[in-house]
Amino acid sequence: MAYMSAPASTIEDAVLAALATVDDPEIHRPITDLGMVRSATVGGEGVVRVELLLTVAGCPLRDKLRTDITAAVSAVPGVTGVEIDFGVMSPEQRQALQTKLRGGTAAAEPVIPFAQPGSRTRVYAVASGKGGVGKSSVTVNLAAALAARGLSVGVVDADIYGHSVPRMLGANGSPTRVEDMIMPPEAHGVKVISIGMFTAGNAAVVWRGPMLHRALQQFLADVYWGDLDVLLLDLPPGTGDVAISLAQLLPNAEILVVTTPQTAAAEVAERAGAIALQTHQRLVGVVENMSWLELPTGERMEIFGSGGGATVAESLTRTVGATVPLLGQVPLDTRVRESGDAGRPIVLVDPTAPAAVALSAVADRLAVRRESLVGKPLGLKPR
Ligand SMILES: Nc1ncnc2c1ncn2[C@@H]1O[C@H](COP(=O)(O)OP(=O)(O)O)[C@@H](O)[C@H]1O
Ligand SMILES: [Mg+2]
Repeated sequence: MAYMSAPASTIEDAVLAALATVDDPEIHRPITDLGMVRSATVGGEGVVRVELLLTVAGCPLRDKLRTDITAAVSAVPGVTGVEIDFGVMSPEQRQALQTKLRGGTAAAEPVIPFAQPGSRTRVYAVASGKGGVGKSSVTVNLAAALAARGLSVGVVDADIYGHSVPRMLGANGSPTRVEDMIMPPEAHGVKVISIGMFTAGNAAVVWRGPMLHRALQQFLADVYWGDLDVLLLDLPPGTGDVAISLAQLLPNAEILVVTTPQTAAAEVAERAGAIALQTHQRLVGVVENMSWLELPTGERMEIFGSGGGATVAESLTRTVGATVPLLGQVPLDTRVRESGDAGRPIVLVDPTAPAAVALSAVADRLAVRRESLVGKPLGLKPR
């Protein structure tokens, strides 16, 4: 009788339901949705045998998958043990997965999801006039602070000359590939892709414009970012090829200018910001970094002078004819450097430090999710 087998099918259903709670650590979707569970059988003694297909051989996250699957399946009543056999997807299976992740269409030309009209991802390109002003430190702290607020955050380290984002975030993993897609490593809830992950060792690479353009395009189109709330790009200092490529690839990116209080730094920061006028990109605001050092007496020592941030904000406001606010002033603090060197952003490890408070306040102002304009009435009236 069919009913007699009900208990057996129930435990199998329960095992499948348990497997559906396990997410692939990279793709962040249930392994059952991704075609990774080839079979799951319950043996006579309550031992469950799972055949799992990894996206790539030597998948670095195999142990994590083993732990997560074992924990989930062991919790099913009646299960006495879990055995996992790892296999690898065939090229066809990987292709099917890629198609699925790309939204069901096997697009010949990968598209940049953030540049699509309906995209709700806010894209901020962090720019500076010159190097060493703290552009990367600001980028990683904003990313970590936004992720800590529960937002889905990605960072593209596009600073070809000084890619430092992975180290500052402690994202030491390497990207893995699924067919043409790149899975970004993640740290502190932030997905990271860096140009440094694609160059051998510390080799200095001479990047020419077209090559850079293609690299940036690949980072934006071929990386599986998922549904991001915020994407931050750490641009190289100055007004070079990357800024121009970015404007072409992501015309909706908003520019965040980082400067120090110093007059010279402020002048070049203004120039970096002013190209937004030519590229028709919005300037979201200015962050002044290294604003002062607080002495034990409570006095503020203005090591790099004062006023740079306000000057840049005012000047850019005049240039573009729209308010470009000074979003924050971040004091000098050795903990900013130390936490960056340790791969643990100060906003996470020392959130009450004045520098962390200032950075978190900037993050708050950037956190608002863009509302999709798709399907919205334009409010046009016949005359
Ligand atoms: N507010 C700050 N206080 C102390 N050190 C800082 C601060 N901001 C940045 N630094 C340090 O200054 C150096 C340059 O910062 P970085 O973020 O790498 O600049 P950029 O990306 O503009 O070249 C790094 O060693 C960093 O740790
Ligand atoms: Mg940098």
